[in-house]
Amino acid sequence: MSVDVRPATAGDNDALNALVRRCPMRADISLIVERDPDFFALGRARGTTNTFLAEVEGAAVGCLSAWRHSAWLRGTPGDISYIGDLRVAPEQRRLGIASQLVATLVQYLRTLPPVPQLLSTGAGNSAVTQLASTFSVGEPLARFTSWQLLPVMAAKIRGGFDMGPAESRDEGDLVTLLDEFYRHRDFSPVFGAGGLGRLLARSPGAKLSDYVLARHGGRIVAAIGLWDASSVRRTRVVGMPLWLRSMCAATRVVSRITALPPFPRVGSLLRFWYIRHAAFEDGYEHALRALVRRAANEARTRGDHFLLYTCADDDPLSSAVAGLPRLSFHYSLSAAGSAARMLERAENRKALSWCFEDAALA
Ligand SMILES: CC(C)(COP(=O)(O)OP(=O)(O)OC[C@H]1O[C@@H](n2cnc3c(N)ncnc32)[C@H](O)[C@@H]1OP(=O)(O)O)[C@@H](O)C(=O)NCCC(=O)NCCS
Repeated sequence: MSVDVRPATAGDNDALNALVRRCPMRADISLIVERDPDFFALGRARGTTNTFLAEVEGAAVGCLSAWRHSAWLRGTPGDISYIGDLRVAPEQRRLGIASQLVATLVQYLRTLPPVPQLLSTGAGNSAVTQLASTFSVGEPLARFTSWQLLPVMAAKIRGGFDMGPAESRDEGDLVTLLDEFYRHRDFSPVFGAGGLGRLLARSPGAKLSDYVLARHGGRIVAAIGLWDASSVRRTRVVGMPLWLRSMCAATRVVSRITALPPFPRVGSLLRFWYIRHAAFEDGYEHALRALVRRAANEARTRGDHFLLYTCADDDPLSSAVAGLPRLSFHYSLSAAGSAARMLERAENRKALSWCFEDAALA
C-alpha cells in the first residue's frame, strides 16, 4: 500500500469534513468534532494553519494540522505552534499512516523558524499516547481540566459587583487587565498592540461585548470572554460510559416536569459556549466566580447543555468553578521541537507560572 502525504488545499474541503466525521476521539466520553461546511474555518480562527492530507489511491485517509500564532512566553510575546487535527480513517489504522503524517509535518516545521510546538492529548485516548511520546520532549508541561458546568439550577451570585458586557470605552482597561493576568501564563494570547482586535476578528461571531466585566468601585476587577464556536466546530457525542448515559436519561425524564435543562443523548450535538479568557485582579477571585455563575445562568436560559471552562490544574483560575455542578475532561499539554527544550530547563520551568490553553481552538 502506498500512502501519499501532501499539503491539503481548498479542494480537499469535503473529503476532510467526511474524514473527521468518521474519526471519533475515543476516551471516557467519545466525541466527534465536526467542521463542515468549511473545514478550514477553525484553522483561520487558530492563526496561520497548514493541514496535511494522507491519501491511498486518491482517497483521503488521514490528516494533521499545525498552526502558529503569537503568545506570551515567559513574560515576553513570542510565536508558538500547535499540532492537532490528527485523524486516520478507521479501516486504515495501525498501518503507520499517523506516524507518516507526523514525520512529514515535523520535516515541514524544520523549514520554519524554530518555535515551541505544542500538542494536547486527552486522558484515556490510548491510541495517541505512544505517538505523542515519540513527538514530544520530556514530561507534559501542564495538565488541564475542561469543566462542563451544568446549568441544572440557577446559581446564586454573591459579591455585589457591577457586572455587564464590555463597551468600546472599556477596551483599554480590559486589555490591561488581560495582559497583566496572562503574561504569567505561557501560551496565552497577547491582547495589547491590537491583539484583542485581531483575536476577535479571526473568531467568527465574536465581539467585544462578549467579554463580561465585573467592576468594583468603578474599576474592572475581573472579566471573562464568551464564545459560541459552533460556526467553526461542533461536538457530537458518540459514546458515554453507562453511568453517564443512565444519568442523562434519568435527567431527561425529570426535565419534562421541572425546569431542568435537557441532557444530551448519544448521537446528539452538544450545545455549549466556551469561556475563553477568564482573568481577575489580585484578591478578586470572588468577582471571577460571580461572572462564571452569571454566564452559567445565561447558559441555562439559552437551554444549553453546559458551559465549558478550561484551565491548568494548578492555576488559581480553577477556584471559579467551586460549588457549581460539573463534569470534567482531563488532558495534558506536551512540547516538542528544539525551541521547546528551553521550556524544560528547571530554572525556566520555575519562572513559568502557569500554562494557558484555549479549548475552543484545540
Ligand atoms: C490516533 C490515530 C490517529 C492513530 O492513527 P494510526 O494511523 O492508526 O497510527 P499508526 O499506525 O501510525 O500508529 C503509531 C503508533 O501509535 C500507537 N497506536 C496507534 N493506535 C493505537 C491504538 N488503538 N491503541 C494503542 N496504541 C495505538 C502504536 O504505538 C502505534 O505503533 P504500532 O502500530 O507500531 O504499535 C487514529 O487511531 C485515529 O484517527 N483515532 C481517532 C482520532 C483521534 O483520537 N485523534 C487524536 C486526537 S489527539
